[in-house]
Amino acid sequence: MRTYTLTVVLAGALGATACGQQPPPYKPVADVKGLMQGIVDPASDVVWESVATIFTKDGVEERQPRTKEEWDNVRNHAMMLTEAGNLLMMPPRAKDGGEWMKRSQELIDSASAALRAAEAKNVDELYRIGGVIDEACENCHKKYWPNY
Ligand code: HEC
Repeated sequence: MRTYTLTVVLAGALGATACGQQPPPYKPVADVKGLMQGIVDPASDVVWESVATIFTKDGVEERQPRTKEEWDNVRNHAMMLTEAGNLLMMPPRAKDGGEWMKRSQELIDSASAALRAAEAKNVDELYRIGGVIDEACENCHKKYWPNY
C-alpha cells in the first residue's frame, strides 16, 4: 500500500515535468543500511572533522581546511551527503511519503548549507551547520532506526 502511494506521487511529479507515464529507469542497488555505511556516514565524517578546535598538551590546534584541495574535499563530501538525501527519498528506500521525506529533506537542506559554506570558505558557518546536520541524523534515527 505504501509503495503504491509513493509510485503515484512520483508518477504525478514526473508527468508534470517531462516524461509521461513511464517510471524512471533508475534501479536502486543499496538499501538504507548500505547507503548509511557507504555514503552517508563517511561523507558526514569528512564534513564534521574538517573544522575543530583541538586541545593538546602543546597548545591549541585550530583545524580547518586551508588549501584548495582541502576545501574541495569538504565541498565534495557535503555534495555526496546532500545527494544521499535524494537517494533516501527514492522507492524502495523511502519508508513512507510523509515524515521520511521531511527527514530526508532536512539532510538535504543542512548538507547543502555545508556545501555552500565550503564554497564560501566560511569556517564558522561550516562548524555551526555541522550541528544542524547532526540533528537531521538524530531526528530520522529516533523514528526509523529500530533499536536506536
Ligand atoms: C531519512 C532518514 C535518515 C537520515 C536523515 C539518516 N539516517 Fe542513518 N539510518 C537510518 C535508518 C532507517 C537506519 C537503520 C538501517 C537498518 O539497520 O536497516 C540508519 C542507520 C545508520 C547507521 C548504522 C548503519 C549500520 O551499520 O547498521 C549509521 C552509521 C548511520 N545511520 C549514520 C547516519 C548519519 C551520520 C546521518 C546524518 C549525516 C544519518 N545516518 C542520517 C535513517 C536515516
